[in-house]
Amino acid sequence: MRKGSIVALLGLAVIAGGVATAVALVPTWLPVAASREAGRIHFVIWFVVVICIVIFAIVAAVMIYAVLKFRVQEDDFEDGPPVHGHTGLEITWTAIPFALVTAIAIVSAIVLSRNDAQAENTLRVNVVAQQFEFTFSYPDAKNVTSPVLRLPEGRSVELYMRALDVIHSVFVPEFSQKEDMVPGLVTQLHITPDRVGTFPLECTELCGLGHSLMRSQAIVMKPAAFDAWLEQQEKSAGPAPPTTTTSTTTTSGSATPISPSAAGLAVFNQNGCASCHTLSAANATGTIGPDLDKLVSYAKQAKQPLPAFVHESIVDPEAYVQPGYPKGVMPTNFGHLLTKEQLDHLVTFLVQSAQKSGNK
Ligand code: CUA
Repeated sequence: MRKGSIVALLGLAVIAGGVATAVALVPTWLPVAASREAGRIHFVIWFVVVICIVIFAIVAAVMIYAVLKFRVQEDDFEDGPPVHGHTGLEITWTAIPFALVTAIAIVSAIVLSRNDAQAENTLRVNVVAQQFEFTFSYPDAKNVTSPVLRLPEGRSVELYMRALDVIHSVFVPEFSQKEDMVPGLVTQLHITPDRVGTFPLECTELCGLGHSLMRSQAIVMKPAAFDAWLEQQEKSAGPAPPTTTTSTTTTSGSATPISPSAAGLAVFNQNGCASCHTLSAANATGTIGPDLDKLVSYAKQAKQPLPAFVHESIVDPEAYVQPGYPKGVMPTNFGHLLTKEQLDHLVTFLVQSAQKSGNK
């Protein structure tokens, strides 16, 4: 090979490699890594991308050089000269990809095993998914549940995840991990958050009409702030089933008794009703299910007294479906999920707020 050809090939390789590097680096393809696991996963991604850029540069340089240099003349209809095998070349182009793929496999295996390794003092969080809401609970703290995932920075966390109805999936882009939640199984996900902030948490498995609304947040807090939050939640939850964890912001630590309508609102928020229903008293704007501001007129159409109608629509939603809304969408298991007290609070709250908006 002549020296001129090598210089030309190298020049083309540098240009192609430069273009590929710009495509890889200039747009922000990845979210910021907010956990140690995400940092390792991003390392694997960049490891593979660098290999790809080098191979792309070599292949592109040879192709462009061949197209420019060995182009046939317009009137040349001859076959090219016959080419015989070249053992050395064939061994080289088998050995190099073999080495690269093996290296990627080894790096990936190390990252997977490190990412799954729980540290001492791992915090356990139970996650329950149902159409169309996530509920997070902290078994180390009594009766603390939350509609958002709050995590302490720097501590190893293991999520134990269950689905009550259909397959859901948890994904926080900044954690770069995703895990399915399957009815009948407990799946696990290990996270070590290392960046304080609020990140979107979403369901990434098509799970019904409200799938696109099945969103929550992962809030990574300083360990002291997290402990304070947990303690405050524990206090306000008390011995009874929790009814005061609806707010995503930290509420004041007062332990004053809550009114029935506030308790009903809490049940409404905790059970994801707002994903599907409109209700001005709860600032809910869902449009999949019936508009709960119109319950007075629905009850009239169903020819039932309002409280009985509301109660039946929660525990046996198929008994009467308001015309114009889809059948079989409202979960049928609220009669089992809610305690009698929660159900009573919810019915009272819905009846009161419907009467208020009905009188407007
Ligand atoms: Cu749950 Cu999609």
